Amino acid sequence: MALYIKAAEILEKADKKRGALKTLVYDSKFANIKQLFALVCETHKFSSILQEIIESTKLLKQTKLQMHLAKVLVYDLLMGQGIKCGGSWKAMMMKHRSRLQAELARMKIKRKVSRNEDLLPASVQKLGGDKLPRYVRVNTLKTTMEDTVDYLKRDGFSYQGQASRLDDLTLKGKDFVRDMHLPDLLVFSPKTHFHDHFLYKAGHIILQDKASCLPAFLLDPTPGSHVIDACAAPGNKTSHLAAIMKNKGKLFAFDLDAKRLATMSTLLLRAGVSCHQLANQDFLKVDPDSPQYKDIEYILLDPSCSGSGMVCLRDDTSDPEKDQDRLSSLASFQLRCLNHGLRFPRLKRLVYSTCSIHSQENEEVITSCLQQNPGFRLVPLLAQWPERGLEPLTQCLRASISKTRTHGFFVALLEKHSEGEDTVRQDQAVHIKNTEVTPHSPPDGEKRPAASEDESEASETEDRQTPAAGQTDSTPATKKKKRKNRKKKKKAATVE
Ligand SMILES: C[S@@+](CC[C@H](N)C(=O)[O-])C[C@H]1O[C@@H](n2cnc3c(N)ncnc32)[C@H](O)[C@@H]1O
Repeated sequence: MALYIKAAEILEKADKKRGALKTLVYDSKFANIKQLFALVCETHKFSSILQEIIESTKLLKQTKLQMHLAKVLVYDLLMGQGIKCGGSWKAMMMKHRSRLQAELARMKIKRKVSRNEDLLPASVQKLGGDKLPRYVRVNTLKTTMEDTVDYLKRDGFSYQGQASRLDDLTLKGKDFVRDMHLPDLLVFSPKTHFHDHFLYKAGHIILQDKASCLPAFLLDPTPGSHVIDACAAPGNKTSHLAAIMKNKGKLFAFDLDAKRLATMSTLLLRAGVSCHQLANQDFLKVDPDSPQYKDIEYILLDPSCSGSGMVCLRDDTSDPEKDQDRLSSLASFQLRCLNHGLRFPRLKRLVYSTCSIHSQENEEVITSCLQQNPGFRLVPLLAQWPERGLEPLTQCLRASISKTRTHGFFVALLEKHSEGEDTVRQDQAVHIKNTEVTPHSPPDGEKRPAASEDESEASETEDRQTPAAGQTDSTPATKKKKRKNRKKKKKAATVE
């Protein structure tokens, strides 16, 4: 019952313009944020249809329910999971179920459509939230890509090989592919449900949007290194970082919200993460000069944002003036977090991300940060990624439903540079890593869309020749080479 009460409260507050849906969900301190998020999101999306059903069946009069609560219950009964909680509400809703179902069926006949989604107003359908593929990250702390693919094939899914272009991510039925950009990512048709699947329950797979997998993948901390996840809950990126670090090293994860951290702790346990240390702490108050953080080399900063990139939470009815105030205060918080992160003495790289489409929270924050921190520069990211940061910050990535089939997202990677080398060579761009390298390569003898093998071979060669800018600093061999070069230069200068 608590879930329905909370969801109704949030929808009412949002209608009264007391905050954006995403912020209200996160601020609710509800234990299962994901579940609440999904219910609020979907009820909000179908709001006008639900209202029509409720009004034409006179549900409020007969049940004395308040409108927002009625919407949440009718959504779950007719379009969602079916009312899960017991108690008086379930009994009451079951009494009205046939009338409500009949009204929904009548609406569909009248509008000559067969799916619930087709009833949505055109403006909502245009956002295409229901058309987003289902992305599944394979948790390499618990399993391998091969084993996961094999398991899913035995479970009735049909593996189509590795995708090579955006259209390959438009899938039907039980078809699935491996993503062309992220090596541990599988892609399924929209609405493929995994919440009750063994692989999900056992922590072998993580349900995570493709764009949200970018930050940890691009930061790419080496196993054994010391890393901070500054605003970490509910922890999807934390578990991704731990997988990349192979659970070796130290992963400090901070979040202000104790409840979200508690949920995160359970998720990390299920994902087999063991290199982490969680702290219910304001990241801005973490002392960069404290001895325990002296070896921090990598930071992932995914701070609170407007959430305007989350397809289902886009709010067309918001007040532009209030929005501007909110964006300014978010941007100033985000810049403070960034500046704070860059103060860690041994920091090499910091990845910054938001699920916002507003330049105020993205390119403008990064521009101000670079002006205030001349010792850092942007790393050009994934040359093959189809959507770039707004000019002139084209080193950064953007993501959107139309260009990348993901939620709206922004990522920037900052790295420390030493004096005298302040121009970034384009050929140092972080390229998509070879996705054929074991243990992630797909099982042999499988169907792949044409050209994928050649392309991945090419990217492997590029990777070897021109590794990511930050990575060049970290290998002993290149360090030695650099020292040698510097000595040579010095010698030449003396001779001259
Ligand atoms: C966008 S969410 C992070 C999502 C997370 N990175 C993930 O992938 O699962 C932002 C988080 O920042 C937390 N937060 C906000 N201000 C903070 C601060 N000053 N210090 C630490 N965490 C903060 C919020 O509680 C929220 O959980």
